[in-house]
Amino acid sequence: MITKCLFPAAGYGTRFLPATKSMPKEMMPIVNKPLIEFGVDEALEAGMTGMCIVTGRGKHSLMDHFDINYELEHQISGTAKEEQLKDIRSIMHSAHFTFIRQREMKGLGHAILTGRKLIGDEPFAVVLADDLCVNEDEGVLKQMVALYNQFRCSIVAVEEVPDEETHKYGVIKGEMIKDDIYRVDDMVEKPEPGTAPSNMAIIGRYILTPDIFDIIKETPPGKGGEIQITDALLTQAKKGCVLAYKFKGKRFDCGSVPGFIEATNYVYDNLYHE
Ligand code: UTP
Repeated sequence: MITKCLFPAAGYGTRFLPATKSMPKEMMPIVNKPLIEFGVDEALEAGMTGMCIVTGRGKHSLMDHFDINYELEHQISGTAKEEQLKDIRSIMHSAHFTFIRQREMKGLGHAILTGRKLIGDEPFAVVLADDLCVNEDEGVLKQMVALYNQFRCSIVAVEEVPDEETHKYGVIKGEMIKDDIYRVDDMVEKPEPGTAPSNMAIIGRYILTPDIFDIIKETPPGKGGEIQITDALLTQAKKGCVLAYKFKGKRFDCGSVPGFIEATNYVYDNLYHE
């Protein structure tokens, strides 16, 4: 059973400056719901109740969002406005939240290693909340948990991207073992244009087995001088097995302005109810 989901949320969000100068990128709202809450909804749907958030300096609002705001709640108590807190209250009822601070931003791999104290020795999910995933049927994490239960190894979610965009992602190469499921034999973080092993890009959803922590510890800084989860996963793939899963659904890169606008329009047209 996968019961915990890790949310690395310590990055600087430089693509969204100045908005992210004093506000975490993960708190940016898509219509009226912060990105992190979409991620938590997806994890809950997949059966996880332990939400483990890796934060950094200036990220207090992430903690406050999943806590009671007595003054506000007292103020609107008994009015129709209470309805707007229904969803977040239900999340707070169903999930528990733990936080740890990443003191130095040494990359996604390092952020995941920082979360080890919250996860312990069990398989877990990772959500990068700035990738918003939606699907009419089962959410992406739920699809991945079903796959994990079958294969019991680390899984990365992948999406086909145009060739000219592969340099923005971790890119995998693998052999298809079943519809939409690949056994990874190579992966490269942000390959130079024209050198990507395929156009299957890793997006912000992972299921990881806990041996990944020791592998990350031994992983030297890679692209951009950061400790890359892609490099650690390649080691894991060589030692055993890592799968890539072409998920069902849509993904919006909300860490970029165009993706954020696209997500906002999609959510407003399809998911927003007044
Ligand atoms: P990104 O590179 O997309 O996020 O990292 P960023 O650095 O915040 O954004 P830009 O590129 O400067 O605009 C992917 C995820 O990993 C987390 C980020 O918060 C984001 O969710 N991360 C990255 C950490 O938690 N710690 C790090 O040291 C690096």
